[in-house]
Amino acid sequence: MSKPILIANWKNHPESLAKAASLSLSLKKNASLYKQITTFIAPPVAFMETVSKNIKGFANLASQDIFFAGPGTYTGAVTPDILKSFGVKLSIIGHSERRALGETNEVVSEKIKAALKSGITPLLCVGELERDEGGTHFEFIREQLRLSLEGVRRKDDAGKLLIAYEPVWAIGKAKAIDPEDLSQMLIFIKKVLTDIFGREAADKIPLIYGGSVDPTNAQALLDAGVDGFLPGRASLDPKAFHDIANILCA
Ligand code: 13P
Repeated sequence: MSKPILIANWKNHPESLAKAASLSLSLKKNASLYKQITTFIAPPVAFMETVSKNIKGFANLASQDIFFAGPGTYTGAVTPDILKSFGVKLSIIGHSERRALGETNEVVSEKIKAALKSGITPLLCVGELERDEGGTHFEFIREQLRLSLEGVRRKDDAGKLLIAYEPVWAIGKAKAIDPEDLSQMLIFIKKVLTDIFGREAADKIPLIYGGSVDPTNAQALLDAGVDGFLPGRASLDPKAFHDIANILCA
C-alpha cells in the first residue's frame, strides 16, 4: 500500500508572513515523521515562497485552489504556471468554501483538467451540505463526482487524482463524522469511481477525509478506511498536526 497522506489546509491563516514562517519552521522539528508519510502544506499563496523553503525535504507544497486557464491575462487569478513556479505539487480543487462562493461542478472540472495538464496533482473535494433520513447525500455525492470528473475520462489520468470527502456539516465543528458513516460513504465513492473509471483505476485513487479531524478522532476515522486526512484547524497547531501524523504512521 502507498504511504498515508496528510494535507494541511491553512485556509487564510496565519495572519502574517512572520507567523507563517514560524509555523512552517516549527514543523521541521518533526521532519523525519512527516517524511514517513506523504505530507503537503497548503498555505495562502502570498506565503508560499517562505513556507516552501521551510518545508523543503520533508513536505510538499500544495495550493488551496488553481485557476482553470493560463498563462494569460486574468487579473487576480493564480494560474497553474505560477503555482508550478513555486513548486506546487498538489492543488485542492472544489473545496466547499469555494463552492459556497459560487464555484460550480463545471468550473471544478475545468480546474481539474488544468491541473492535470500542468502536471499538478488534483485533490478533488466533494461533500454534502447536510444529511437526511432518506439518504439523498449519496446521490448528491454521485452527482458531484460525475460532473467534477467530466474532464477526466482517461484511466491514466485517474491514476493522478485524489479525492477528499469533506461533508460540509462536519467542517469547523466540535465533532467529525461518525466513523461508520464515513466507512459507508467511502464504499459508495469507490463504487461511483469504479463506474466512471473501471475497477483497476478506481482502486488506485486515494480517498482522503476532511472535517474536524483532530488527534482524538483520527485513529477511529483512519480505521474507517481512509488513505489520509485534510485537516484545517488542526493543521495550524503543530502539536495536533504532529499527533495526527503519528497516528497515520503507526
Ligand atoms: P476543519 O478541520 O477546521 O474542520 O477544516 C476542514 C477543512 O475544511 C479542510 O479542508
